Amino acid sequence: MRVYTNTSGLVKRIDFSSNKLNGDPTEISCLVGLVSLNLSRNQLTGQITPDIGKLESLDSLDLSRNQKDGRFPASLARIDRLGFLDLSYNNLTGKIPNGTQLQSFDPTVYAGNPYEEIGPDQVSNEDDKDDQLISYGFYISMGLRFAVGFWGVCGSLIYIREWRYTYFKFLNLLNDWFYVRVVLIKWKLTDA
Ligand SMILES: *[C@@H]1O[C@H](CO)[C@@H](O)[C@H](O)[C@H]1NC(C)=O
Ligand SMILES: *[C@@H]1O[C@H](CO)[C@@H](O)[C@H](O)[C@H]1NC(C)=O
Repeated sequence: MRVYTNTSGLVKRIDFSSNKLNGDPTEISCLVGLVSLNLSRNQLTGQITPDIGKLESLDSLDLSRNQKDGRFPASLARIDRLGFLDLSYNNLTGKIPNGTQLQSFDPTVYAGNPYEEIGPDQVSNEDDKDDQLISYGFYISMGLRFAVGFWGVCGSLIYIREWRYTYFKFLNLLNDWFYVRVVLIKWKLTDA
């Protein structure tokens, strides 16, 4: 058994697939230069280490057909270069981190896991449609109410003679009444 110290960054590719490896190789995240990792078809357990995000050069990650459990590590989404991913047939739960490129992979790369699937159609914006309907309805009814209110009053004043007389008579009365009040108040004030 060898212990590598300074050279661990030089390891580019590891393919230990189709062996009988078990346990949880968290140390793998020290191989920061790793471009391709294939640990498929083993008996690996434990969660996918949250440090997986340190493998920034990783282009291909195949952990399919193991017994990895726990959630999808959010740090996996930090690996921009990840072009190939296969996590199928493990025991991964939870959701694929939202709003990340991890959602752009084909669902088959997550197949065989008891995770929560969210189809793109389920994320659709039905709430937005409701909002739009409400605002359309609101503006239409506001317009109608204005038309009915405005023309109900002015239209009838224009077209119905008696109403017009009554209305202006009423305005005259109101005017007289105000005039009288104002004069009375004035008198009271000058008296005092
Ligand atoms: C990993 O190894 C398996 C089995 O040897 C193979 O089928 C698979 O294609 C490999 N994955 C990648 C990304 O090369
Ligand atoms: C998956 O996880 C569940 C709950 O932790 C456990 O009961 C089950 O045995 C696991 N299945 C496999 C294939 O490891």
